[in-house]
Amino acid sequence: MKFTAIIAVVAAATSANAFTIAAWSNTGYTGTQFQTTGTGTYNLGFTAKSYKWISSGGDGCCIKFCNGSRETGYRCPAYNNPSVASANQFNKVVTGCGSTVLNC
Ligand SMILES: *[C@@H]1O[C@H](CO)[C@@H](O)[C@H](O)[C@H]1NC(C)=O
Repeated sequence: MKFTAIIAVVAAATSANAFTIAAWSNTGYTGTQFQTTGTGTYNLGFTAKSYKWISSGGDGCCIKFCNGSRETGYRCPAYNNPSVASANQFNKVVTGCGSTVLNC
């Protein structure tokens, strides 16, 4: 008699983006707020001095912070910054996942 066990390991391959970027015009998460969960390039319309990059991590999604065409920072794992150094403040963010190249 023959017994064959087939164990199917199904990896949850949901490709839904699981991040949120929230940025504020003042330190301490105050002032004008910008927020998105989408991938792409976003002009904030203000210079951000604090932010919350909320990401599950390990999902291959990252964010680049830009002041115009100049890169001021880069994050993949989740990170909160209540007071961004003056030289690193940003008015644009670029988000993407996987092999997407993030360009300011
Ligand atoms: C962003 O770029 C503008 C134009 O070059 C510059 O005047 C400003 O000081 C920069 N801000 C930061 C935070 O680097």
